[in-house]
Amino acid sequence: MISKFVLFLLPCFMMARGETEAFEKDLLLYSADTERECEFFEDIMPHKKRNGSCELNPDVYLNVPQIIARHGYPSEAHIVQTKDGYLLTLHRIPGPKSGKRGGQPVFLQHGLLGSSADWVVNEGQALAFFLADQGYDVWLGNARGNTYSKAHVTYSIKSPAYWNFSWHEMGTYDLPAVLQYVSTHTNRPGEIIYIGHSMGTTMFFVFSSLKPQAAKNVKLMIALAPTAYMTHVRSPIRYLAPFSNDAQWILRNLGFNQFLPRGKILDLLNYECQLLEQRKICENAFFLICGFNKAEMNMDILPVAFAHDPAGSSTKTVLHYGQEIHANGNFQQYDYGKEINMIKYNQSTPLKYDVGKIRSNIYLMYAEKDKLTSPIDVLRLSHKLPNLIGLYRVPNENFDHVDFIFGKDAMELVNKQVLKVIHNFTETDMV
Ligand SMILES: *[C@@H]1O[C@H](CO)[C@@H](O)[C@H](O)[C@H]1NC(C)=O
Ligand SMILES: *[C@@H]1O[C@H](CO)[C@@H](O)[C@H](O)[C@H]1NC(C)=O
Ligand SMILES: *[C@@H]1O[C@H](CO)[C@@H](O)[C@H](O)[C@H]1NC(C)=O
Ligand SMILES: *[C@@H]1O[C@H](CO)[C@@H](O)[C@H](O)[C@H]1NC(C)=O
Repeated sequence: MISKFVLFLLPCFMMARGETEAFEKDLLLYSADTERECEFFEDIMPHKKRNGSCELNPDVYLNVPQIIARHGYPSEAHIVQTKDGYLLTLHRIPGPKSGKRGGQPVFLQHGLLGSSADWVVNEGQALAFFLADQGYDVWLGNARGNTYSKAHVTYSIKSPAYWNFSWHEMGTYDLPAVLQYVSTHTNRPGEIIYIGHSMGTTMFFVFSSLKPQAAKNVKLMIALAPTAYMTHVRSPIRYLAPFSNDAQWILRNLGFNQFLPRGKILDLLNYECQLLEQRKICENAFFLICGFNKAEMNMDILPVAFAHDPAGSSTKTVLHYGQEIHANGNFQQYDYGKEINMIKYNQSTPLKYDVGKIRSNIYLMYAEKDKLTSPIDVLRLSHKLPNLIGLYRVPNENFDHVDFIFGKDAMELVNKQVLKVIHNFTETDMV
């Protein structure tokens, strides 16, 4: 197991020598000259092989530390162990290209079926690089069960026990561990700026409502596409809702461990998508669940986005949202069925998360066309948060759930606003 982590830490040694040379040549050749860039993922998927007649964006076959290094930034990887034995990988850009260090720590947490890659692949618009350029010490989380955090001190990743988690455990085990690690490692307790997207916000609402003391490590939380209440969801995830408590159905159609929808269930989920988009996009679980919208998506990065997402999660993680939709959109803990609920919660139904207990300063950013997070639910949340410091609707009618990270206008509409909010709140000039 140890050797696997060494490989993560030393990505450059992952390739045999001959391959490394070919690979370096590719990096030199690649000039972001979109004229010759491979247009579509059919050119590179499923084997991510090079195609002689077009160049492909090297980020397609690089891992996150390599992508960061390729763009000229300092790049680090750290392994953090949670109290329940999960081993999580944090990626870090400790500062700008100049090598200057010691900036304020910012922690970016990806969304459902995503990974740390989501913050670095949107060429020219990536939030992680933008914040590093401004002098921040940027840390990228990876939730348990994704590409980079698929390890445990005792459970094999093939065992059902390993996959027995949802975003509840990400909020109650992963975030306390990684935020404590960042605050200790940087020696900046109480100074972390947390930015979450999608499930990255759900995890934070779980964390800060149940562990307000630990949440004091966070000075400010910025929520991109805040996901808590789910009364007006238009994502196909809603089709799973009626079945979300039916163990037999789940086992047959989704797999109990890792979320890997196939066959008939995939056809059901992507029916609406197929009417509008290309087949390949609709078969990608990440875009299928989170939404896809040609109007705002940066189509140039589609091959890269496909190479990195879906990054994997447990079936339970997706079902937990399905259960919420089924339970009138309530923001509540996992429903284990009456008997186990009695043991776990001392009541037959799951406990609700009390967002009124959250003490953190929170800024919400939402989008009108978001299929997973409806503006109605965001407004409801905003009324309940005791320390809401602002509410921002992205001023673009076409903005959808994934456009916060993959949008072609993410720099103007999201990143610059994020920076303004941080500056405004911390009243420090980092540049
Ligand atoms: C390479 O890409 C071109 C242009 O997209 C495509 O027409 C061709 O079929 C691809 N070749 C291979 C071997 O995949
Ligand atoms: C998963 O967790 C629940 C609740 O803690 C428990 O009842 C169940 O036995 C666990 N299942 C596995 C496969 O570990
Ligand atoms: C469980 O709930 C019952 C009835 O609501 C209450 O009387 C009891 O104190 C609770 N037990 C615990 C351990 O919280
Ligand atoms: C900045 O702070 C002021 C005063 O607290 C507030 O009125 C304004 O809306 C804030 N701007 C942003 C972008 O958060």
